[in-house]
Amino acid sequence: MAKGGGSGASRDAAPATPRTPKKQPARGDSSGTGRKAGRTPKAPTDAAGTPKGSQTPKTPTRAAAKAKTAAAKAGGSGDSQTQTQAPAQARAAKRRKTSKNGAAGPPGLDPEARVFFANRLNAHDADTTQFAPAAEDRLAFEEASAAASLQEARETGLPQAPREQGTPSTPSVGAAGVGYQVKKIQIGASEIDSWYISPYPDEYSRHPLLYICEFCLRYMKSKYTFRRHCLKCPLRHPPGDEIYRDGNISVFEVDGRKNKIYCQNLCLIGKMFLDTKTLYYDVEPFLFYVLCEYDADGYHFAGYYSKEKRSVQGYNLSCIMILPPKQREGYGKLLIEFSYLLSKKEGLPGSPEKPLSDFGLLSYHSYWRRAIYEILVAMPAKESSAISIEAISKKTGMTVDDIISTMQTDGMLQRQPGLSNYALVVDMPRTEAYLQRVKEKSPRRIDAAKLRWAPFLTKGTRAAKDDPPADEPALETEADQSDSSAAA
Ligand code: ACO
Ligand code: ZN
Repeated sequence: MAKGGGSGASRDAAPATPRTPKKQPARGDSSGTGRKAGRTPKAPTDAAGTPKGSQTPKTPTRAAAKAKTAAAKAGGSGDSQTQTQAPAQARAAKRRKTSKNGAAGPPGLDPEARVFFANRLNAHDADTTQFAPAAEDRLAFEEASAAASLQEARETGLPQAPREQGTPSTPSVGAAGVGYQVKKIQIGASEIDSWYISPYPDEYSRHPLLYICEFCLRYMKSKYTFRRHCLKCPLRHPPGDEIYRDGNISVFEVDGRKNKIYCQNLCLIGKMFLDTKTLYYDVEPFLFYVLCEYDADGYHFAGYYSKEKRSVQGYNLSCIMILPPKQREGYGKLLIEFSYLLSKKEGLPGSPEKPLSDFGLLSYHSYWRRAIYEILVAMPAKESSAISIEAISKKTGMTVDDIISTMQTDGMLQRQPGLSNYALVVDMPRTEAYLQRVKEKSPRRIDAAKLRWAPFLTKGTRAAKDDPPADEPALETEADQSDSSAAA
């Protein structure tokens, strides 16, 4: 009698072929209806029946090339590596395909979103169109913005310029003429009236008075915020290297790339007193030389000048500004002298960027005259007949053009009768008397021995005459400067 019935017979019978154990579903296939156990996905084939995944790419990747070399070293051809990769590539291609053609992922979903969210969100959550502002949202924003402007006008008593639709709150370069002007700034102990429009963001420009931290140059609308900032501000000097110190006067070199915000704020202050210059935000190609007065509270900002790291036109100064309360104290000429000292160190004559403002012209002419006169007076009598403009240029760091223009203004270049060339005619008593008058005013002067600085050279900087040949590697700049910078 047969035991049991039904399937008992098949359980006892030996299976014709050994059973392949069922594979786990692929990761992420939560439905459990993944690929059938033991089935290898078919790689797409080309017309010749070669699996497409095994095709060698036209430009082999570095990894593939490496694998091939390794295989070749081991005695193989490297093709086996390519073939084992084929199914994986084919799987990836298939996955990409199903994502795009809509076979997988929530229905009705934007294909981009499907790819972006990797099918992890449902259709509603992945739909980003609901967050884009519609026409009525924009209208509501404009109305609210206009109402806020009106209220601000009532509170501050300032006329409000009409705001154009879509005007960004932070003006871009050249947006200085939008109609708002900071009327006054408070910086350090001084309250200063502005001279020109500076492109502060609209919400700041509308305020009658801006508070500026004299150490980090951050600007603030409210006195309360300003006071709180003063308690917390970590800076007590400009964020750069102190490269010059003489008594209570220091000059810091600040890199526009390393301290972008500080330099942008510096330019915004400068623009309040400069009519022509347009540098506000693109500060990275510039170095800034910040003049400070030192006391027990720290290094107080007095003025600055900017200089291109690499000037094609040979400018050694782009913009110079001394805070109005500190003007007419000799700081302008001090910084100009400083800029020429750096030019002499670089071994390249330099000139200020044109056009010069009226005050800039006054200051430069005064400086140039004094610099040339000092050379002429100091020159031994026997050498004076052999003096050349190039020699003066080398000693002063001034360009030949600036020397000639100063000499012409002072009537020192006289055409020789019957000849096409000019002679340098110096009225020595008058020159000496001029220098004597200057000396009596005890002007501020730069002491070259107190400079701790090495030129900032980048690849392609104009090479000084005594520099190594151009094919030698460019000098490492920042390391040089940190080595030579004085302790702050
Ligand atoms: N009226 C008459 N003469 C003046 C005036 C003035 N308002 N300002 C300066 N000077 C003369 C001085 O008499 C002095 O000449 P002197 O020594 O022969 O007497 C000379 O100019 C320099 O005087 P400083 O006291 O050294 O210069 P100051 O500290 O005032 O700074 C500066 C000059 C930087 C031009 C200042 O007036 C300023 O910041 N102005 C606003 C910004 C500006 O115009 N910058 C120059 C733009 S050009 C450029 O950036 C390349
Ligand atoms: Zn600060």
